[in-house]
Amino acid sequence: MAPSPDAAAQVLVASNRGPVSYDVQSDGTLAARRGGGGLVSGLSAIGPDAGALWVCAALSDGDREAVRRGVGEDGVRMLDIPAEVYADAYNGVANSVLWFVHHMLYQTPVEPVFDAEFRRRWASYESYNRAFAEALAEEAAPGAAVLVQDYHLSLVPGLLRALRPDLRIGHFSHTPWAPPEYFRMLPDDIAAQVLRGMLGADRLGFLTERWAAAFRACCEDRVGGLGSTRTGVHGLGADGEFLRRRSHEADVEERIVALREEVGAGRRTVVRVDRTELSKNIVRGLLAYRQLLDDRPEWRERVVHVAFAYPSRQDLAVYREYTAEVQRVAEEINERYGTASWTPVVLHVKDDFARSLAAYRIADVALVNPIRDGMNLVAKEVPLVSDEGCALVLSREAGAFEELGEDAIAVNPYDVSATADALHEALSMPAGERAERAKRLSAAATALPPSRWFLDQLDALRGPRD
Ligand code: G6P
Repeated sequence: MAPSPDAAAQVLVASNRGPVSYDVQSDGTLAARRGGGGLVSGLSAIGPDAGALWVCAALSDGDREAVRRGVGEDGVRMLDIPAEVYADAYNGVANSVLWFVHHMLYQTPVEPVFDAEFRRRWASYESYNRAFAEALAEEAAPGAAVLVQDYHLSLVPGLLRALRPDLRIGHFSHTPWAPPEYFRMLPDDIAAQVLRGMLGADRLGFLTERWAAAFRACCEDRVGGLGSTRTGVHGLGADGEFLRRRSHEADVEERIVALREEVGAGRRTVVRVDRTELSKNIVRGLLAYRQLLDDRPEWRERVVHVAFAYPSRQDLAVYREYTAEVQRVAEEINERYGTASWTPVVLHVKDDFARSLAAYRIADVALVNPIRDGMNLVAKEVPLVSDEGCALVLSREAGAFEELGEDAIAVNPYDVSATADALHEALSMPAGERAERAKRLSAAATALPPSRWFLDQLDALRGPRD
């Protein structure tokens, strides 16, 4: 396929979720919302003026309506994939199969089941990937660089390579990668398709060496190696400048006042902020906090667990059940230990970025205990934003552990008793030591800000081929 005659993009990014999303207002007009996250800030460093184009999927009815009405933003092309194909690809394959494999989170022996129904969904995943590859092939200028993101689009590099051999193609995985013993769970032909799809890229990026090595091992095991594709490690960091500024704006200050009222004067805080993903391990975090109150009654009335758990992927039953379980356990703790003047767990589930930053600022301890996580930016953000410098209790299974492990208190995320001990240690840490450690954590956290992270990948992709 040749580029269309006005194809001008020198740099293209492709991801399922794009930088903007639209809501249909009650009067029928469309309101744009900006997306968040490291990738969005990373790309804004180059922006449409530099000839960059971001290709993403229409996620909602509002987005589909925007595509139909021709409403859009410079530098963004949204793909209107049929709603049922999209649901199969996003919910049925990306989020219920590939995400589970990469995070090693299947509840065997019940799951997974690869049957005819799965094959039907897989065909949708293929056509969703093909829609991206075709749009990129149409838009890319000769020799352009294309950076494809994540497990939603694992087939795109191979499909795009076949259409446009002239392009420089990169792919970046924001998740962990499973070792071959686990990856073998996928049907052989599907496993080979995923790996060969990714190997269509010139260069594959991962958040840590651990995930890159697992990917290479899967290639050895399933498809006889990597061929000419290279792998690279780019550990996404926090955007320190933005967070420091944003966390001192008026709306955050207001929320600090409200939150302090909920917590109560003079109490310590254990803060966690997560999307309610199954990998985040929020329930075991609550159980560890309950055990802390059990084992060490001296903390009762003196500490509050501020837990923000924002619902995600509510189309999947297992996520809905998990969200309900988080709420149930939090209520149970409050019923069992709460007093007239003390609520042990302050749980909020409505996504509010300013309130998240308010929690970061008042944190004495940050609890980040995922079962498995590609990186985990919260671990990097809380020590950086906290007013007094917080202690960090961090799972050794988070990618961020490789960079922050020395100054964090490490936990095995399954070990609730050890997590309770770690919370005690963190709460008991002398203020001076806590501040010193937080300073070193912040320096490590900002070592590779999003814009640098993105540009480094672009440079590596455009550099000489081996
Ligand atoms: C998780 C994964 C990321 C992925 C993101 C997508 O956080 O670790 O790799 O990009 O989910 O979230 P979404 O809300 O778009 O499904």
